[in-house]
Amino acid sequence: MRLWGRVLVFATVIWCTVLASCLILYAHKSNDSYRGTGERTRRATEQNEVAEKTDIFFLKTHKCASSTIQNILMRFGYRRHLDFVLPLKDNYLGHPAQFNRNMIPRELTSFNQTYNIFTHHSRYNYEEVKAVMNENATFVTMLRNPASLFESMYQYYRLEVTTNMTLQKFIKNPDKWFYLAVRSPARKIGTNQMSFDLGLNVAEFVDGKRNDSVDDFIRKIETEFDLVMITEYMEASLVLLSKLMNWPLEHVASFKVNSRQLVRKVQLTLSERDSLMYMNFIDARVYKHFLKKFQSRIADFGVELMKEEVRKLLDLNSKLWSSCVDKPNFKGYGRTLSYDLRNPQDFGCFYSAKDELSFTEEIRNDQVKRFSTLRKLDSLMDDYVDER
Ligand SMILES: *[C@@H]1O[C@H](CO)[C@@H](O)[C@H](O)[C@H]1NC(C)=O
Ligand SMILES: *[C@@H]1O[C@H](CO)[C@@H](O)[C@H](O)[C@H]1NC(C)=O
Ligand SMILES: *[C@@H]1O[C@H](CO)[C@@H](O)[C@H](O)[C@H]1NC(C)=O
Ligand SMILES: *[C@@H]1O[C@H](CO)[C@@H](O)[C@H](O)[C@H]1NC(C)=O
Repeated sequence: MRLWGRVLVFATVIWCTVLASCLILYAHKSNDSYRGTGERTRRATEQNEVAEKTDIFFLKTHKCASSTIQNILMRFGYRRHLDFVLPLKDNYLGHPAQFNRNMIPRELTSFNQTYNIFTHHSRYNYEEVKAVMNENATFVTMLRNPASLFESMYQYYRLEVTTNMTLQKFIKNPDKWFYLAVRSPARKIGTNQMSFDLGLNVAEFVDGKRNDSVDDFIRKIETEFDLVMITEYMEASLVLLSKLMNWPLEHVASFKVNSRQLVRKVQLTLSERDSLMYMNFIDARVYKHFLKKFQSRIADFGVELMKEEVRKLLDLNSKLWSSCVDKPNFKGYGRTLSYDLRNPQDFGCFYSAKDELSFTEEIRNDQVKRFSTLRKLDSLMDDYVDER
């Protein structure tokens, strides 16, 4: 009887230990995963054999759906507590001034003054960006059809107030185009916006005098960037990004953030779109060049394989959406699209739905705290002399 009792106690202890281990293991695993699907975990494990890259510069072009990419990079970096290049407030580092390292405030300066992720608005300046990124950081940006971009920008920044003309009327008055070549409002926004964001002094080009150097500019961008994504092919762009970074596709799943409710889309005729390409002639050349390059990357990747990957990504996106979103609302920052969430305690859901400004604020607060704690420790040891 006593022997059986002991065996029973022993068996119970073993059973409980095994059960507890399983629970701990399971909790650990689901903690690690975005949505805890078996498929995801298995694939992530396979992918992890090649270390995922953590260092990336993303030149965030205006009105190119860049917020989607930025949200992906913020989620990636925040989850791992990586160091971001951030401004002291809001979401701009310079612009219209070109980026330089002194724009990073002291509170947000890392110890060795290099960073993992740079994904906030700025105006490109290769040398200065290179100087603040960790070695071998990946450089990426995103371009959009210049006619679509201009239409969207004109509405978003209310340029009809600047020009005192509707978009259609502005298109018909080429003698007024220079208004926007010199940029407005605040000298940030105007024609050839993508080239401006990429650091080109576009005003020098508008009279066609420096036409030949647009090619030099294109070559420069081509040499300095590892990937130029195309807004019209967002999913394929994200597939290429995930491969470049050795990330599983799950890392680039997303849903739309930062889109405005009130902006109405103007339907333009083909000839109006042609005029916009002509008005934004530098951007048009840059876009055409990188679109071609993008096509050749997909050809190299394999069109069928790309379709398969895009299908997987779309599937991940809709799973993310259906597991996260209860219903959309427009209660976001500045009445942008935002969401009532089913499970706001899930990291992937919560931060996929978070708008740029409040997500930035959270990362910034976290980083200020982290850096100041480390600095405090550093200064504690400043006057320490080892007398043992
Ligand atoms: C700076 O420090 C980080 C870790 O804090 C490290 O990953 C990075 O390589 C360092 N960069 C340089 C240039 O020393
Ligand atoms: C950067 O790349 C070079 C060349 O591939 C390599 O030799 C070097 O070790 C890399 N540095 C880091 C920090 O990964
Ligand atoms: C704007 O245009 C209208 C007519 O097109 C004109 O009457 C008005 O004076 C203009 N306003 C400015 C500030 O140029
Ligand atoms: C500028 O370059 C484009 C493309 O190479 C060419 O079609 C156009 O004629 C050039 N314009 C001038 C003013 O040289």
